[in-house]
Amino acid sequence: MGKERHSVSVNETAEPTRRDFLYIATGAVGAVGAVSALWPFIDQMNPDAATLALASIDVDVSQVAEGQSITAKWRGKPVFIRQRTDEEVQSAKEVKLDELKDPVARNANLPSDAPATDENRSAPGKEKWLVMVGVCTHLGCIPLGESGDFGGWFCPCHGSEYDTAGRIRQGPAPENMAVPAFEFTSDTTVRIG
Ligand code: FES
Repeated sequence: MGKERHSVSVNETAEPTRRDFLYIATGAVGAVGAVSALWPFIDQMNPDAATLALASIDVDVSQVAEGQSITAKWRGKPVFIRQRTDEEVQSAKEVKLDELKDPVARNANLPSDAPATDENRSAPGKEKWLVMVGVCTHLGCIPLGESGDFGGWFCPCHGSEYDTAGRIRQGPAPENMAVPAFEFTSDTTVRIG
């Protein structure tokens, strides 16, 4: 049996309102309750866990301009898909590996010990695109995009800051945000899973 696939559009996947609620919910319960508050909520978005556990999704990114992001839902998790600006790519490339808190790429498409270069965090042949699970590696909150001192993502729960390649740079999160298995099946379609 092949994997099931679902196509999703930009409009279906961009959910700033729901995302904002998650920040509020997790912030209110504090560090100990954050994980238990967050995952049950995400589970409720998931109509059929057994199906989604196997599913891959095709995401249309034709409407995602440079400097814009969308959030897709995949296996009950948010996945950030961003077309980075040239400045964001350049900024990520200039970071030396020994400056990184987590020097490992955390990219499911690469060996587990691949270094966290910008190239290893982005899509092959499409370096402007970043695809990653939008879950903070500290206690599971959803970070805010285009925020923080490193120009990438900021997690307001406990102050973790990620750079423009989604690598953890400051704060309590131990790892870079995870890059899932994915590929561009056309210039405008990303298959995740
Ligand atoms: S969940 Fe604690 S900093 Fe993100």
